[in-house]
Amino acid sequence: MTVKKLDQTALDTLFLSARSHNGWQDKSLPDGIIEQIYELMKMGPTSANSCPARFVFVQSDAAKLRLKACLAAGNVEKSMSAPAVAIIAMDMEFYEKLPQLFPHDDARSWFIGNEKKIEENAFRNSSLQAAYFMLAVRSLGLDCGPMSGLDYDKLNNEFFPDGKVKCNFICAIGYGDDSKLYGRLPRLTFDEACQVL
Ligand SMILES: Cc1cc2nc3c(=O)[nH]c(=O)nc-3n(C[C@H](O)[C@H](O)[C@H](O)COP(=O)(O)O)c2cc1C
Repeated sequence: MTVKKLDQTALDTLFLSARSHNGWQDKSLPDGIIEQIYELMKMGPTSANSCPARFVFVQSDAAKLRLKACLAAGNVEKSMSAPAVAIIAMDMEFYEKLPQLFPHDDARSWFIGNEKKIEENAFRNSSLQAAYFMLAVRSLGLDCGPMSGLDYDKLNNEFFPDGKVKCNFICAIGYGDDSKLYGRLPRLTFDEACQVL
């Protein structure tokens, strides 16, 4: 397949004009969009194709109330007013799915009994999948509001009581309200952040 360079509109949608949103238009999500986001996100690469990210989409008033109790004060209004908030979590037993996801090798045995490796890989790869998730959301014309300001123990107890899945961060999705944006913060220049050796 010939890979085509994205046009300027696509680059704006994914990166240059896209923002982290704090407020939301009163506009519901299109039917089926959550599934479409997942279908794009899942194709992003992870090590040993381990795909450790798990997602809980908090949409109902009842589920939002459960989430509300876990949030830092500054994240309550922006989460409760969003059409949906995704809890992006990681399966700490992701290696149990490796016989299905990486069948040509015994990748499960690389992790069994090695807690440090399990934690590193779960966090690394679910964070990657979280980034793919945000780009998938943007590519489908929606906006994101990522948040890590929350009580992780409380949230994990509330939504993942068996202890096998842990929250990485949460991300509101919907149509952003530009009037609630903060000014764009600076980024490091190429020379500040990169070396070419
Ligand atoms: C993992 C993660 C956690 C974040 N946590 C919070 C948060 O708890 N509350 C908040 O208001 N913004 C949070 N942010 C938003 C960042 O401050 C924002 O993405 C950054 O300043 C860049 O903003 P921009 O995308 O509009 O340029 C978080 C972003 C990420 C990616």
